[in-house]
Amino acid sequence: MASEMTIVVLFSGTGTNLENLIRHFHGRRFGERRCTIVPVTNRPDAGGIERARRYGIETVVIDHRNFEERESFDARLVETIESFAPDLVVMAGFMRILTPVFTSRIEAINLHPSLLPLFKGADAIRKSFESGMKVGGVTVHRVTQELDSGEILAQACVSIERSDTLESFTRKIRQLEHRLLPEVVRDLLDLSDR
Ligand code: GRF
Repeated sequence: MASEMTIVVLFSGTGTNLENLIRHFHGRRFGERRCTIVPVTNRPDAGGIERARRYGIETVVIDHRNFEERESFDARLVETIESFAPDLVVMAGFMRILTPVFTSRIEAINLHPSLLPLFKGADAIRKSFESGMKVGGVTVHRVTQELDSGEILAQACVSIERSDTLESFTRKIRQLEHRLLPEVVRDLLDLSDR
């Protein structure tokens, strides 16, 4: 009988990376293991909620505005994540600053749309595009207390052409993200299609 394998995906926005992970992993069997994606968001209006629903998946919503302190929000988040006993926790566009309440309890990976350690924090795609560099890229790294600073697990890069606009560069970055993140998840969970 197949055993369950759970990936919790934290997101705040459109959720294209969430959908991509669902398409790659949800309901699929890898050897004796069957994979389930559990989406969790801090925003009741996040676009990813509807995307996940199209696959019959309900998102857990923990609205950060209902919590007076970051720590109490983080404590609820930790409790929720732990209740699923996940094999992996992935942040894909989760727009919250995390406290040690979270980072001391949960091991997670994060997807960031720049070649870290360059362009940490918000608006990384634009900063990278406007930097004058000839390449940009994406990074998957471990989550630590310091923003976008944990161990780098994988990176991929793409050229920034003279003809690129912020929009075309953003599309290139999305494509890279959609390729790289599932690769890292596969590696970390040691998944193959056997
Ligand atoms: C991605 O660019 C990710 O790297 C960043 O937030 C964005 C999320 O996009 N941290 P989506 O919601 O997955 O479409």
